[in-house]
Amino acid sequence: MADFSGKKAIVLGGTSGIGLATTEMLRDGGAEVIAGGRRECSIDGVECVQVDVLDRDALADLFEKNQGFDYLVNAATGGPRAIGPFLDMDLDGFQDSFAKLWGYANSVRLGAPQMARDGAIVLYSGYPARKWRAGTIAIGTVGGGVEAFIHNVANELKPIRINGVCPGLIDTPMSPLEGDARATYYRDGTAEHLIPRAGTAEEVASGAIFLLENEFITGTIIDIDGGAIVT
Ligand SMILES: NC(=O)c1ccc[n+]([C@@H]2O[C@H](COP(=O)([O-])OP(=O)(O)OC[C@H]3O[C@@H](n4cnc5c(N)ncnc54)[C@H](OP(=O)(O)O)[C@@H]3O)[C@@H](O)[C@H]2O)c1
Repeated sequence: MADFSGKKAIVLGGTSGIGLATTEMLRDGGAEVIAGGRRECSIDGVECVQVDVLDRDALADLFEKNQGFDYLVNAATGGPRAIGPFLDMDLDGFQDSFAKLWGYANSVRLGAPQMARDGAIVLYSGYPARKWRAGTIAIGTVGGGVEAFIHNVANELKPIRINGVCPGLIDTPMSPLEGDARATYYRDGTAEHLIPRAGTAEEVASGAIFLLENEFITGTIIDIDGGAIVT
């Protein structure tokens, strides 16, 4: 297991799904962890804070209070995302889908200046960023924006490192489906993938742990997607 003792981490969107798994792995590795989300939460051995990643004042306050922190992870979905074909899409819904990118940008812009110079940042994109299909244009464009952001900003953030994890279809509370409908959604959604099942939050979070721990990696994205992108 990674040894994060003596490190302080802030995990935004760290209260559910992939972010929660990241929070728990950092905690189990000995880090002091602050998990943020809009709703109240309670996680053993972790400080929970209510913060909206779109609220820049609240974010600035959080980072200032924790000046010198080592790791920033942002897994916050940001808000609702538009789905379906672009030519039928409500353009306000398309625009609102970018809340994820703005939440990420806010956290990096306001967080990085308050971090330790040997600190590291991880953001989560999503496989539609590079798996180009009809019907996923909103999440694909946002995910592509997240990845371009990481590649570009890495040049400016050095020596702070920044990387991304690109998840495939992962079984998390992001999907509200239950029972048979949920099982069918994940089965059908992954049937053509090289590993035909939904991933777990832990399988994806382990990528973030690797990126935080390995001090010779920056400006890149790792795919944890069961082979979704190459199909
Ligand atoms: N699950 C998948 O299949 C999948 C696939 C590709 C990419 N991803 C990406 O992986 C990341 C994590 O997804 P997930 O499946 O773990 O989602 P999730 O289980 O729905 O968790 C989302 C987290 O983000 C927080 N959040 C959402 N909007 C926020 C805001 N405006 N401010 C602060 N916190 C906010 C939520 O807490 P509150 O609601 O309390 O704010 C929650 O902690 C996201 O970037 C997602 O796009 C997921």
